Amino acid sequence: MENIILIGYMGSGKSTVARELHQRNNMEIIDTDSKIVKEQGKSINEIFAQDGETAFRDLETDCLKQLSEKKDSFILSTGGGMPVREENRALLKNLGTVFFLKADTDTILERVKHDTARPLLQDEDRRSKIETMLMTRTPLYEAAADYIIVTDGRTVEEIAGEIISVINR
Ligand code: S3P
Repeated sequence: MENIILIGYMGSGKSTVARELHQRNNMEIIDTDSKIVKEQGKSINEIFAQDGETAFRDLETDCLKQLSEKKDSFILSTGGGMPVREENRALLKNLGTVFFLKADTDTILERVKHDTARPLLQDEDRRSKIETMLMTRTPLYEAAADYIIVTDGRTVEEIAGEIISVINR
């Protein structure tokens, strides 16, 4: 089966949808943030604080390059900033079918309201931060995607079902 690649903003549901897909097709889940944290032996917050965002972005690109060598199929849950780099958008497309999980600001705010692990969201005015980032990033997510899946007001089962029906087409 072809690889399923999930992209989208923080809190768009990539990890939850990946788990639901795994329950249905038993494909391995790979989460780029978890892979980086494991390999570096430090949290995302620590990588941003000690090494800077560019260093983290380089690790994300390395991660995609490593995955392009992988033989068995997988479900890839990516960090929200992964598609921002043009090089990463090309690498993602080569890895498999790319699904952009699209969520609006209210949905995202609700999902990340207790979050302390995402350095880019530790802002006094989270709503404006999200709105500004979505304005810049949405065209890039759309450029990277083969399919756009609107997630607002939908259950994880519905979203995973839509992805599976696209893959089985
Ligand atoms: C980021 C998203 C995070 C993580 C890092 C940066 C971003 O991943 O990679 O905090 O730039 O959007 P999630 O989308 O899994 O939260």
